[in-house]
Amino acid sequence: MRSTELDEFVERVSERTDIYSVVSRYVQLTQKSGRFWGRCPFHNEKTASFSVSPDKGLFYCFGCQTGGNVFKFLSLIENITYFEAVKLQAQRLGIELPQKKYSPEEERRRREEKSLSKINELAQDFYHECLIKTARGEVGRKYLSARGITAETIETFKLGYASDDWENLLTNLTRRGFSPQQLEQVGLIVRRKNSPGFYDRFRGRIMIPINDIFGHTVGFGGRILKTEDEMNPKYLNTPETVLFNKRNLLFGLDKSNRAISTAGAAIVVEGYMDAISLFGAGIKNVVATLGTAFTPEHAKLILKYARKIIFCYDSDEAGQKATLRALPIVQATGANVFIIKIPDGKDPDEFIRKHGRAAFEELIKNAASLIDYHMNYVLARADISTTDGKLAALREILPVVANVKNLVTHNEYKKKIAAALTLDEKLTDDEWKKFSTRTVEKKSPAVKRVKLREEQEPTIREACETILRLTWHDDEIIDYICEIFPQEIFTEIQWEILSRLKECKEQGRRLDQISSEKELSAEANSELSRILMDAPNNPYTDEINTFNDAVAILKRAVLKKKYKAIREQAEKYISSDYETYKKKLEESLKIKREIDSLKRN
Ligand code: UTP
Ligand code: MN
Repeated sequence: MRSTELDEFVERVSERTDIYSVVSRYVQLTQKSGRFWGRCPFHNEKTASFSVSPDKGLFYCFGCQTGGNVFKFLSLIENITYFEAVKLQAQRLGIELPQKKYSPEEERRRREEKSLSKINELAQDFYHECLIKTARGEVGRKYLSARGITAETIETFKLGYASDDWENLLTNLTRRGFSPQQLEQVGLIVRRKNSPGFYDRFRGRIMIPINDIFGHTVGFGGRILKTEDEMNPKYLNTPETVLFNKRNLLFGLDKSNRAISTAGAAIVVEGYMDAISLFGAGIKNVVATLGTAFTPEHAKLILKYARKIIFCYDSDEAGQKATLRALPIVQATGANVFIIKIPDGKDPDEFIRKHGRAAFEELIKNAASLIDYHMNYVLARADISTTDGKLAALREILPVVANVKNLVTHNEYKKKIAAALTLDEKLTDDEWKKFSTRTVEKKSPAVKRVKLREEQEPTIREACETILRLTWHDDEIIDYICEIFPQEIFTEIQWEILSRLKECKEQGRRLDQISSEKELSAEANSELSRILMDAPNNPYTDEINTFNDAVAILKRAVLKKKYKAIREQAEKYISSDYETYKKKLEESLKIKREIDSLKRN
């Protein structure tokens, strides 16, 4: 499908869709003051803070700040992509999908990928049947039951068993019409070295299917039954194939994503068996990496469902060091990183089997933030027998903690560090100050940006939101707005929306609720929904006056800030340089007059 064709399709579906009827399939809604209200399906709540506005075609939850248009709603509730949501709704309305035209080459590749997927599905069924139904699978069943894995968990994860034979899967799947070359392409069989032919890659192993987010099996991890030896690694994994890319896959995510969004957090473990065991025990918001490091791509997969990522790794010394190196990168993706350290060196599976679900939940509750974890790590290893050792530790921690803005937390850290290093609090304080001024100097004369909506003064917030709302409907005013107001008066998200609107206008297209889904971050889309829905319901609202009022409020705020800065500069010269003082004072008075004239209008 070409993109204009696609846009037309989305528009056609959109036009015929009523958000109220879609949402009310899932949520019980009642009408109140021009909107519909219900209990939010995306987070746990007792009072109804989830609202739907049919005339604007939007939903927004005041509890969890999720919002957007009808397709966003469908994609979240059905756990499908945005475009799949459009297709689902088209199906429900009986609108036909435009047929995509592929080049012969594309057509061939798609057919090939489809049949490779099919092979993985069949292999998964084959191993699973072998585990639960056959005599050969008996050893596998015994092994899993000894590890406390129930039949229900076996079913959920479609666990399987690959028998000891060399050509079991090969024979079965070639008999069904697949070629050895195809089986080799998905990594299920291996070419013999010294003679022609192939043999099964996985033998004598518990088979753990690894799925993509849609639940399609794309690879396997195979755990050996016998205690491992030199020849055979404990786990054998599918090699990289066209379908299987470890950087972009998280084991279990297809099953845990709902629990992750409900809990607002994902637990990341290292082992397949850890994930399976936790899930089986009722901790369902869990995923595992595939024996590789956790990448920013992994973080992005999780961030679709929750902000908080709790790492629960086996923590030997080397592991902890690796964690400390890797996690700041994860934090940089916007995730809130926490770390659980399991006592007595057990892995999550062993721990929950020994101590139970409640004990594990206690660990989750006490998970350390990345900063705490790092600080504890340094403090536990500090040499406090010498002053040099103490200072070295202190200087190692400062870059980690000095960015903490919250004063209470800031003081707590300071106290904790001083106590742990048996340092005088005053000394800690001095070093901290030295460190902070040094970093401040290094930075360019940065303007203080407003990050969050909560940090914005209420009147300014209202004015910014009004302006956003009006620009959304009429992008003619965008250039004016961007010209007269400095970026730092808006929050980061407001600025994201404004600058995207400007960009679209420059490219001669319009940002609408459909294209914004693709072009704006999830936060910006939710924020936009809230702002658009918050529009006054009064039909007589005079848009020009609303706009002028909002502009005046913001102009005043900008001028006031400027006024204050110049006054402060003036004060500095009062005794040393009277001339400059006077000049600055005059300058400030001019601004003051400007402010006053704004008030009169
Ligand atoms: P673990 O040995 O911690 O996994 O390896 P586990 O799940 O706790 O294994 P059990 O409990 O002994 O059965 C962590 C992960 O590292 C990868 C796998 O992805 C495994 O889940 N790994 C480990 C391999 O790929 N190959 C190996 O030989 C070992
Ligand atoms: Mn284990």
